[in-house]
Amino acid sequence: MRGVVLAGGLGSRLLPLTKVTNKHLLPIYDRPMIYYPIQALANADIQEVMLVTGGSSAGDFLKLLGNGKDFGLKRLNYSYQEGEGGIADALRLAEHFVDGELVCVILGDNIIEGHIARAADAFRKQQQGAKILLKEVKNPQRFGVPILEGNRVVKIEEKPANPRSSYAVTGMYFYDASVFDVIKTLKPSGRGELEITDVNNAYIANGTLTWDILEGWWTDAGTIESLYLANQLVAQTGANKL
Ligand code: DAU
Repeated sequence: MRGVVLAGGLGSRLLPLTKVTNKHLLPIYDRPMIYYPIQALANADIQEVMLVTGGSSAGDFLKLLGNGKDFGLKRLNYSYQEGEGGIADALRLAEHFVDGELVCVILGDNIIEGHIARAADAFRKQQQGAKILLKEVKNPQRFGVPILEGNRVVKIEEKPANPRSSYAVTGMYFYDASVFDVIKTLKPSGRGELEITDVNNAYIANGTLTWDILEGWWTDAGTIESLYLANQLVAQTGANKL
């Protein structure tokens, strides 16, 4: 299975912290933010990773991460996203790298206490379709929110004003290589982006999306409040613990 870390976007919700640098280079306690998602992939035995980034600080990732040997990766590739076309637009750039394999996609601002090794193993067995990880949260309207019927996710709504469950779809996704065909069918959303939620809804529609609950704490770090929370959580309990 290949890994893709998405670290593009403008980070405008973190201004002025992101005026001269990329959001994913900001510190979370004792490490740059981008270390956490890469470590999460390495801990799940995913050793071939592509980092997609953009903007004017893109070269700094190469300086910081080099060929990924600090994480024990076999290879770390890079791609450059022009503009801010959305999460699915950034993922599109990894098609040749993924090369028909399974892929685990992780958003560069997602920080987890535990690991995704068990979910990765389950998806290696599943072999096709998609898998998402859900987490109960206090503020679901900030996230993609699943509508559940019994044990089935029947739809995901992106940032709904009236959430239909108290779960967030976390920024860790598993797909088969048909994800790139799905992305080619997408139209930009109201906020002008190709939405990962539309990708997941396509897999729900063809009946091949599975889900698990993520264990341990999870947060994004894309707003001042969540960046502060991520720092506190890592300082108190550590992250990516096996
Ligand atoms: O954190 C989980 C949430 O992430 C999900 O629950 C939502 O369904 C999903 O849409 C996403 O929501 P956000 O609005 O918080 O995503 P954001 O725009 O902050 O982007 C998250 C990461 O994705 C960001 O750290 C880098 C990457 N990204 C984003 C955009 C818009 C890119 O690489 N390129 C992009 O164009």
